[in-house]
Amino acid sequence: PVPNVPLNDGNTVPQLGFGVWQVPDDESYTAVTSALTVGYRSIDTAAIYGNEVGTGRAIRHSGIAREELFVTTKLWNGAAETWTRESVLREFDASLDRLGLDYLDLYLIHWPRAMREDYVAIWRAFAELEESGRAKSVGVSNFQLAQLQRLIDETGVVPAINQVEVHPDFAQPELRAFHAEHGIVTEAWSPLGQGRGLLDDPVLSRIALKHGRSAAQVTLRWHLQVGNVVIPKSVTPYRIRQNFEVFDFELDADDLVAIAGLDAGNRLGPDPDEFDMG
Ligand code: A2P
Repeated sequence: PVPNVPLNDGNTVPQLGFGVWQVPDDESYTAVTSALTVGYRSIDTAAIYGNEVGTGRAIRHSGIAREELFVTTKLWNGAAETWTRESVLREFDASLDRLGLDYLDLYLIHWPRAMREDYVAIWRAFAELEESGRAKSVGVSNFQLAQLQRLIDETGVVPAINQVEVHPDFAQPELRAFHAEHGIVTEAWSPLGQGRGLLDDPVLSRIALKHGRSAAQVTLRWHLQVGNVVIPKSVTPYRIRQNFEVFDFELDADDLVAIAGLDAGNRLGPDPDEFDMG
């Protein structure tokens, strides 16, 4: 029952997926197995999460046909070196090896890196990976508007997805408008605001009570109804299931207006304009 969202390259992405940020490798096997059992078909990891091995094993042991799954990982483009075509291809192969897969559905540049512009060279290598079919789709993560514009201007290749921090109190209206204008899908990381204060917000609690749902479910529903792709993370089986049970109720216009009022520009993660991964 998970809708598929069209990408600008002709592929589609499930609108709800399962994220494994901050899940240790030895727990990722169990968490991803639970998610696949519940019905998730999209799994989001990254080289820097250190859990591609456990995640890949869970995917391969699930018995689910590879073509029914949507697997994402991300290039950790930190380190002092300047990134080249060769170093990108090497890291891509290493990720595939750790996952034990022979292609990815989506490969993302993890961060733009403040003060550096080698993400343009990286992006050209990504375009090549897409062309070869080893990454069905390519995109970026944590890119700001000016950085997206630069990629498009210099390469003519528009990212399929930009995966960025979005939650009701950090709704990113300008970036989302730019995405919409350029056919880039907004994928929300930390869609639940990392499970911190947001889920106790009285507005969300009131709406949750009204629908007989949890604040987390209302938050995920908001993402779906405003058009975001979401990848909530949990290592707790009942929450993994609960976060998937969001296709049998709908927020009404009043709910959406009330939730729109929560946007306080409350960023929880690093500011991409300042963040250098070292
Ligand atoms: P846990 O993994 O211990 O279950 P985000 O995806 O926004 O980063 O949020 C992830 C955080 O939110 C994790 O700490 C996770 O806890 C918690 N979380 C995930 N799903 C729910 C839920 N349905 N209700 C409450 N907290 C949740």
